[in-house]
Amino acid sequence: MQMSKRMIAALTVAVVALVALPVAAQEPIKVGVIAEFSGPFADYGAQIEAGMKAYIKQHGDTVGGRKIELITRDTKGPAPEVAKRFAQELITRDKVQFLAGFGLTPNAMAVAPVVSEAKVPMIISNAATSAITTRSPYITRVSMTIPQVSAPMAEWALRNGIKQVYTVVADYGPGIDAETQFTKTFKAGGGEIVGTLRTPLQNPDFSAAIQRVKDAKPQAVFVFLPAGEQGIAFVKGFNERGLAEAGIKLIATGDITDDHVLAAMGDPTLGMITAFHYSAAHDSPENAAFQKAYAEANEAKLGSPNFMTAAGYDTMHVIYEVVKKVGGDIDGDKAMAAIKGMKWTSPRGPVSIDPETRDITQTIYIRKVEKKNGKLANVEFDKIADVKDPGK
Ligand code: PHB
Repeated sequence: MQMSKRMIAALTVAVVALVALPVAAQEPIKVGVIAEFSGPFADYGAQIEAGMKAYIKQHGDTVGGRKIELITRDTKGPAPEVAKRFAQELITRDKVQFLAGFGLTPNAMAVAPVVSEAKVPMIISNAATSAITTRSPYITRVSMTIPQVSAPMAEWALRNGIKQVYTVVADYGPGIDAETQFTKTFKAGGGEIVGTLRTPLQNPDFSAAIQRVKDAKPQAVFVFLPAGEQGIAFVKGFNERGLAEAGIKLIATGDITDDHVLAAMGDPTLGMITAFHYSAAHDSPENAAFQKAYAEANEAKLGSPNFMTAAGYDTMHVIYEVVKKVGGDIDGDKAMAAIKGMKWTSPRGPVSIDPETRDITQTIYIRKVEKKNGKLANVEFDKIADVKDPGK
């Protein structure tokens, strides 16, 4: 085919325009953020995005001379098919270089085959079922795994004279991981599981479960529930039915005393012991800088940042570092090579990405809810450094 003069002229204009563009005016680096922005899990998307914005506020909205653009998509809750369609559209139509977000496990799982096929790096900002990162070599995770926070809770219970525990978990990936790992570690140390209950992910009613725990009279109940409303409801029921007075302790992964809802749960949380990787009360210069940027980048009505906010912030850290190392035109394999072994100081403490599993290695803290400067806080009093995911 011969090119007409008009076509040649148009092409020349296009080429000249491209060459003449200042660096920052080049195509932005697009990050597709798939998360829950409405419905009962709306705080997940809000906090992840707020953390991302805090990072951008603190580090500038360009990296390697390219602007960073977040493109958010709302799954409205656990909706694997919707998450998958968003991932396909973001990759093929919007040409995102990264996918990120993912509060809930089913949404993250559904996207794994899409990123495998497209070779697009996917950075999980929350979803915590251990197996997710095994589903694609293009997945990494900067949040936690549920076994990583459940094993230390079992160890703490054993060290503190707790020998009989009832487990109550949400009936899906992370809940089953929590039950499995807690049981394994607890039994290995001589503990006994006296009862096990699983509650539905959607619209659970905890009254029957709480009564059954009370009737069984264990020394403690170990709980995993997805952060937010469910924890509030469980703690309320636990108190109303007088389990604490009956001598039953409540121990849990830190999802339940989520910093974002702690004030709403109120004084009944005082004394609760949890194991987790991030507390808003963590005392470090990095956490102070993160919280300052969070306050500047977001509206005050968003309330306290939590572990999802911190993970959103760390998600952007990984993206910025990848762009610095491999440039803005992301090749999935080069990006993953840059991510493996990456080390930094997060607002939660020192972290690194395990090159074998692409999961995060981090300190797990044992915390107690106390009043700090008049406010409820998850105060860290013990820690285990360099914890990997024991679920793999
Ligand atoms: C998950 O769905 O993987 C999940 C959700 C909420 C949490 C932790 C894990 O607090």
